[in-house]
Amino acid sequence: MIMLEKVKEAAEYLINNGIGEAKVGIVLGTGLEKLVEHISITKSISYKEIPHFPESRMDLHSGQLIFGTLAGKKVLAMKGRYHFYEGHNLQEVTFPVRVLKLLGVETLLLSNACGSVNPDYEAASLMIIDDHINMLPGNPLIGVNYPEFGPRFIDMSQPYDAELISKIEAIAKKEKIKVHKGVYVAWMGPSLETRAEYRFIKTMGADVVGMSTVPEVIVARHMGMKVAAISVITDLCDPDRLKPLDIDEVLNNAAIAEKKMTKLFLGLVEEL
Ligand code: HPA
Repeated sequence: MIMLEKVKEAAEYLINNGIGEAKVGIVLGTGLEKLVEHISITKSISYKEIPHFPESRMDLHSGQLIFGTLAGKKVLAMKGRYHFYEGHNLQEVTFPVRVLKLLGVETLLLSNACGSVNPDYEAASLMIIDDHINMLPGNPLIGVNYPEFGPRFIDMSQPYDAELISKIEAIAKKEKIKVHKGVYVAWMGPSLETRAEYRFIKTMGADVVGMSTVPEVIVARHMGMKVAAISVITDLCDPDRLKPLDIDEVLNNAAIAEKKMTKLFLGLVEEL
């Protein structure tokens, strides 16, 4: 079966099983799933049950597509995402984004955890993604193009919506939350970067590095969605002072930053 048909089947299954249409889609990254607690949930379906969704390698509580109301708006939220490093190809990683579009999503908000190579960024702070560099070994649009989904060649001069970025900045100012704005590079993983790689990442013009988001943004733009994304900085990756990864510290920073990120997303959804 061609991908176009698979996406349609998955969307049809969801509609027939209590998932409704929404204009706002949200992708919640690892350790950043508490926004879900603010959603008044109408229906939640495990990725495992959805036809053609890739086999889920996430933990038990993740891997749910949630339909409900957040800040007065109907939303579709992905609790947990697929990663390239889990062994999915980039078309599989981005399959749910295509399904979201068929369920009516016009604006896609994404979150992720990342390491910072910018010395001005603090641990547990936030960065609005202003631009990205795709360093994954591929692109989700490689292969047959279905004009029904989008054009063969897509513009990437401004993948992250300027108006949404301004809105997030205004909300952050009002809520007294410090936000940076910068460049995210997608790295293959799952091994973390070496000192030489962080040095390279810095040199190439990135502020932070993570293992997700970019493929989803490419597909969202292919399908004509507006995109905004927030990175939470879980570890500082100065190549000249690199400490071994402390996973407890990473999780702790994610938890601190998550509260701020949730506020920004709530504020933004209210305004959409
Ligand atoms: N590198 C890549 N991905 C990450 C990091 C990092 O330092 N921290 C959290 N996700």
